Amino acid sequence: MKEFVILAHNYVRPEVQRMADFVGDSLELVRKVKEVEVEYIVFAGVDFMAEMAVILNPDKKVIHPDPCSKCAMAARVKAQDILKAKGKYPDAEVVTYVNSSAEVKAVSDVTCTSANAVKIAKSMKSDRIIFAPDKNLAHYVAMQTDKEIIPVAENGCCPVHHALSAEDVARNLEKHPEGEVIVHPECTPEVIKLADFVGSTSALIRHIKETSAKTIIVGTEIGIISRMKRESPEKNIVPASKYLVCPDMKMITVEKLARAIEQKGPIVHVNEGVCEGARRALEKMIELSPPA
Ligand code: 13P
Ligand code: SF4
Repeated sequence: MKEFVILAHNYVRPEVQRMADFVGDSLELVRKVKEVEVEYIVFAGVDFMAEMAVILNPDKKVIHPDPCSKCAMAARVKAQDILKAKGKYPDAEVVTYVNSSAEVKAVSDVTCTSANAVKIAKSMKSDRIIFAPDKNLAHYVAMQTDKEIIPVAENGCCPVHHALSAEDVARNLEKHPEGEVIVHPECTPEVIKLADFVGSTSALIRHIKETSAKTIIVGTEIGIISRMKRESPEKNIVPASKYLVCPDMKMITVEKLARAIEQKGPIVHVNEGVCEGARRALEKMIELSPPA
């Protein structure tokens, strides 16, 4: 059995991505942690991603090179907010974005990622869905389904994607009128309205390979741009804004990764009391969303 496997998210620094055995979006990473035969999973991403690896893999040790690297959106909803919403809407089911804590997942019916949020919402029995924490993703899901989607956290959004404005996109379109606009569903409804394609980080990478457009304006975190350029060198890939930087993803550096491997730590621990509930919600998502 291999001793270490390095899994990385599409947003981490390009040099960290190059050190990884596998780079992907949140859903691909969730699937990957379940299939790797290894003693240590080294997770180059933010806290909730490493936490999911522990929850789904209680027998393996998961290393997070910098435990201070935390998703800013995940902190914007608490388990109590979900319980309050459940009390108000007892007939609703709770779909929670994986960008959330284990405690929040544990009180949810199922989790989702940006890649399968619409599919998961459609497969729920109830026509009423409590959705947390991302109000922008909630709005996008509501536009794609007939369900009533109830966002929970008023300030529930990704500060990075929420900062991209429709004016930023329009400015790029003025410069590149032939350009195709592709964005992540964490962007605001105003930005999504201007997009030709909306998808998860890996779906955006795939779309660039498949589209006939030569110029693509990309509305998501800029850590993804180098992979896009590497995998589609013939395309003109234009970041919609150079300010779309997730500081927490950038906290994972090559030096921290090397030190983590050398020291076999820091090991991630998840409160036992919430592990079982969070695992149930994650496993339900995996069951409802098999690979295509
Ligand atoms: P993906 O699941 O699309 O990779 O996105 C994760 C994320 O944190 C987006 O900000
Ligand atoms: Fe969280 Fe936004 Fe960073 Fe993604 S880009 S990890 S949602 S803060």
